[in-house]
Amino acid sequence: LSTTDVDISAIKPGQSVTVVWRGKPVFVRHRLPEEITAAEQAVMADLREAQKDSDRVKKPEWLILVGVCTHLGCVPLGQKPADPRGDFGGWFCPCHGSHYDTSGRIRKGPAPANLPVPPYQFTSDTTVRIG
Ligand code: FES
Repeated sequence: LSTTDVDISAIKPGQSVTVVWRGKPVFVRHRLPEEITAAEQAVMADLREAQKDSDRVKKPEWLILVGVCTHLGCVPLGQKPADPRGDFGGWFCPCHGSHYDTSGRIRKGPAPANLPVPPYQFTSDTTVRIG
């Protein structure tokens, strides 16, 4: 399928789901207010790949990412409540230790780039279409 529809109505703040789009995991996270604040307040000069959080989301509370580490392609941890989320509260790739922040931006470790944001649109208040 070239598109994947996700029902986001049951994803509570602080929760995430993983869906498959074009054979890749896509993370859909309902961000907490403090996660949004941290993402928005990051200092651009501190970022390896400087991107504003506002350029990576359409609605601040919903962060949607391709869940493939930009180093060598492992799936970063941070989706399940018990998962480690790394030093910046987002995702942690255990393969070689890359730390991503609450906007999915690379902050520490060998990965060269941010977790990509796939094309998507909100088709209703409760549905997002990836692709
Ligand atoms: Fe993620 Fe190497 S594949 S750190």
